Amino acid sequence: MTTTDGHSHQPRNVVLAITGASGALYAVRLLQVLLDARSSVHLVVSSAARQVFAQELDVELPSVSAPADAWQNLIHETTAGKSSQQWQFRPLNSLAAQDCGSGKLIQYGTADYSSPVASGSSLTDGMIICPCSMGTLSSIAGGNSSNLIQRAADVHLKERRPLILVPRETPLGLIQLENMVRVCRAGATVLPAMPGLYQKPAGIGDLVDFIVARICDHLRIPHSLTRRWGTD
Ligand SMILES: Cc1cc2nc3c(=O)[nH]c(=O)nc-3n(C[C@H](O)[C@H](O)[C@H](O)COP(=O)(O)O)c2cc1C
Repeated sequence: MTTTDGHSHQPRNVVLAITGASGALYAVRLLQVLLDARSSVHLVVSSAARQVFAQELDVELPSVSAPADAWQNLIHETTAGKSSQQWQFRPLNSLAAQDCGSGKLIQYGTADYSSPVASGSSLTDGMIICPCSMGTLSSIAGGNSSNLIQRAADVHLKERRPLILVPRETPLGLIQLENMVRVCRAGATVLPAMPGLYQKPAGIGDLVDFIVARICDHLRIPHSLTRRWGTD
């Protein structure tokens, strides 16, 4: 498969966890881009994330047993449907439209420790927690493994695989800062939801895409979300 920038790309096998920090839109757009790049996405959603989605997007997230289509509908409605107007997402310069189909989505419950992502023997290309609550950050820093999200994060650290945490909180207290240092020392990438303004965002969609682009770059997932600095 060849991407829009001419590089070859192997579809990725990625764990995506959505936790209860503000920033539901980041998760929706990220999921869209991952699937657009034909990734296999192993999805885990915390119960607090469901509350945040209800508050920020007025939607009820698909249950664990819901078909993947339910997520596709949510993505479509948020990025291109009627409720998308306030966010102003740019249409994706879709890889899928060229020579590849859509990726695969599998959702697991937060207590499903028999799922593949609970074990290091299941190979992945990395894990993203977006957005990442301070609670989940703290549990990862403490090695708690008390739900599937924390266990999968622990697995990625011990297996020395990429783990990208996208925290959203302000201001940050000392304990939160120390937890970030701790996970960083253990090998995680802390990628705060702090969009830059130097590309003159035209709307909320551009701010979201700034962060989603940086996440994808870290896992070498192709995208056409933002202009690269230094290029026309
Ligand atoms: C609407 C809403 C917004 C929230 N925003 C944040 C936030 O931005 N950052 C954060 O760390 N926690 C936030 N919280 C609190 C977390 O959801 C809460 O600490 C929860 O225990 C996190 O659980 P989880 O890590 O299992 O998702 C928010 C909660 C709600 C309901």
